[in-house]
Amino acid sequence: MKKNVLSILSSPRGASSVSNKLSAVILEKIIEKYPESTIVVRDLAKDLPPHLNEEYVTSIFTPEANRTDAQKQSLVYSDEAIAEIQNADIIVMNAPVYEFSITAMLKAYLDQITRAGITFKYGENGYPEGLITNKKLYIAIASGGIYTEGFMTEYDFVGPYLQKLLGFLGITDITIIRAEGLNKGTDEDKENAYQKGIDSILID
Ligand SMILES: Cc1cc2nc3c(=O)[nH]c(=O)nc-3n(C[C@H](O)[C@H](O)[C@H](O)COP(=O)(O)O)c2cc1C
Repeated sequence: MKKNVLSILSSPRGASSVSNKLSAVILEKIIEKYPESTIVVRDLAKDLPPHLNEEYVTSIFTPEANRTDAQKQSLVYSDEAIAEIQNADIIVMNAPVYEFSITAMLKAYLDQITRAGITFKYGENGYPEGLITNKKLYIAIASGGIYTEGFMTEYDFVGPYLQKLLGFLGITDITIIRAEGLNKGTDEDKENAYQKGIDSILID
C-alpha cells in the first residue's frame, strides 16, 4: 500500500542527532511495510519556521479579502505547512529534549500549524474539534536523562505536551518512541540507551 509520509526533523545537531537517527530508522521500517510510499522531509533546522509576529496574529483574525500584503505574506509558511501535513497519511516527528522541552524550531512549527478554523475549531457544545484527521503519528524523543521512571518523571513534558497539542489538532493515533538516558553512565550504557530506543520501534 502506498502512503504519503511526512518527516519533520527538529534537532539542531544534524548528522550527530540521535532523534534524527531514530526518525531515519522509523522511516526505513515504514518503507519496508509500505514500499511504494513517498517521503517528504521538512527539516526545521535547515529551514527555520518563522516565529509568530504582529502581522501573523492580526492576519488570522482578518478576513482574507481584507488582508494587507504583509499580512498575506505572514501566512505563507503556515498555509504551506498545513497543506503538507494534511496531505500526509503518516507523520514521523522527532523531538529532542532541550531544557526539558521541545526545541524552539519545533515550537515555532507547531505555532504555524495551529490555526483556529483551519486545523481546529470549537464545536457547538464548546468542545474543541481537531481538523487534522486520519493520520498516524510517530514521535521520536531523544533525551540525555531518563523520564519514564525515577524522580525525573515529574519533568516529563515533551511526550505529554506533543500528545495533547497534536491530539487537540485531531492527530490521536500516536506512538511515542524514546531513546532516553543518552548522557548517563558509561559509553556502553549510552549505546544501550540508543539501541533500546531503536529496538522499541514497531510500525503498526
Ligand atoms: C543545549 C542542550 C540542552 C539539553 N537539555 C536537556 C534536558 O533538559 N534534558 C535532557 O534529558 N537532556 C538534555 N540534553 C541532552 C539531549 O536531550 C540529547 O543530547 C539528545 O540526544 C538530543 O537529541 P538530538 O541528538 O536529536 O539533538 C540537552 C542537550 C543540549 C545540547
